[in-house]
Amino acid sequence: MALQSSRIARLNFEFINKIMARKKIIKTHYKAKPGRRVRQSAKLSAGKKKRGRPAKRKTRVIKAKRGRPSKPRKPTFAKIRIQAPRGVHDILPEEQKYWDKIRTIVSQVAISYGFKRIDVPVFEDINLFIKGTGQTTDIVQKEMYTFKTKGGEHFALRPEFTPGIVRAYIEHGMKNLPQPVKLYTLGPVFRHNKPQAGRYRQFYQFNFEIIGDANPVSDVQTIQVFIAILKKLNLKKFTFYINSIGCPLCVPQYKKVLVSYYRQHLSKLCFDCERRFKENPLRLLDCKKEKCKRLANKSPQILDLLCEECHNHFKEVLELLDELEIPYILDPQLVRGLDYYTRTVFEIWEEKGDALGSLLGGGRYDNLVEMFKGKSTPAVGAAAGIERIIASLKKQDIKISEKEKPKIFLIQLGELGKRRGLKLFEEFQSKGIKIGEAFSKPSIKSQLKIADKEGAQLTLILGQREVLEDNIIIRDMTSGAQETVALERVFQEIKKRLKK
Ligand code: HAM
Repeated sequence: MALQSSRIARLNFEFINKIMARKKIIKTHYKAKPGRRVRQSAKLSAGKKKRGRPAKRKTRVIKAKRGRPSKPRKPTFAKIRIQAPRGVHDILPEEQKYWDKIRTIVSQVAISYGFKRIDVPVFEDINLFIKGTGQTTDIVQKEMYTFKTKGGEHFALRPEFTPGIVRAYIEHGMKNLPQPVKLYTLGPVFRHNKPQAGRYRQFYQFNFEIIGDANPVSDVQTIQVFIAILKKLNLKKFTFYINSIGCPLCVPQYKKVLVSYYRQHLSKLCFDCERRFKENPLRLLDCKKEKCKRLANKSPQILDLLCEECHNHFKEVLELLDELEIPYILDPQLVRGLDYYTRTVFEIWEEKGDALGSLLGGGRYDNLVEMFKGKSTPAVGAAAGIERIIASLKKQDIKISEKEKPKIFLIQLGELGKRRGLKLFEEFQSKGIKIGEAFSKPSIKSQLKIADKEGAQLTLILGQREVLEDNIIIRDMTSGAQETVALERVFQEIKKRLKK
């Protein structure tokens, strides 16, 4: 019995030791306050244990260290380097003036040409783009960001706006509205292509569509809208290229002629063009590789093979452009990289063939609505890449003015000054008067420095004394002259001074 109880005691002792050892690990994160009694470390008590009997628990007193109490240690974190994914970019505050300007001009032009804003989802059913943008396009074959949800749905981030807008047109019964329906949008689109200058994986487009009109006037109005935007942005150097790629009546005939031409040169084609030859021979004309471009330049031209309707349609488009004195270059190799186009196609480049790529592109797509089970509805549209337009504005050294900065700056001093200042700032806001501030800066020197940097004409200085006396100091930043005025007269005084 006695033997048994001593074994149990030893087992208990070992168990306690294990726990103590574990606790020691935990204790390394915990510092006892000086003066407190703490249990001696497990290691110590384990080393001095006596045979048979469990060692007595020993305690030691933590002595207060001399001098200052040690500061609590700062927690340390494992550092992870995080960067934006390749091919995407931030739009920093100093860049925003370009974006604001473009957004403003796009919406102004849209209103004056009778377009209404639409916003479509960033992701849609993958089939919308496979069918809409086209199975044989680079966008669908190589560039789409796709994902499956937990529920098994297959989605894609929009690589362009047109299929989404057409879906919305059908889904919301816009065919019942007076035709054509003129829509515009602006936002990010996503394409997984090789990042390089002017080529991003997330980039922004503004996009205009006229749905429900086959008349060449709509082709020309779409072109007019984009040219109006570029002109309002003061972009000086750009060239407009145009072509017609016919309709399902004349294209098959042209494709036959094209295929027989390229069959003689198959060995000279690049890898992608070998695929295009089988899948979509029209796209052979669109290849950017030098050896393929040389072949395209000598290829038969679609303009010679257009059916009568397409020929007349295109003729009228060109006549209207002449009427409007919009200069253009006829480009028989221009076919565009998307499958839905019919008849008119066009692009605007700063300089054809430069690394930046086209500034914008579009065309007519008379069969897309019908393809999505809508009734036959002709349409035309285009989209511009905002990053490329900004790059072009910078390249052509076109200055975009900053938003007008406030002419008045509020300086507050001390607790009272800050509290009354916050209220006064709100009074300025409700009167619609722009006023600068630096509430987080306590000193007059640092606040004056900011006011000066922001180009303020007048500063209003509100200290403890001014608050108690219901006054405010108005300082002219150019002359340095200061005057104390009654707080209730501050708005009149400012108006008077700014008028001078
Ligand atoms: P898209 O030619 O594919 O047409 O693109 C239009 C514009 O988007 C290009 O001209 C270019 O400025 C810009 N862009 C294209 N890819 C990139 C990229 N990786 N990085 C930066 N900018 C880029 C369309 O998207 C059609 N949905 C246009 C349309 C509307 N057609 C009829 N309606």
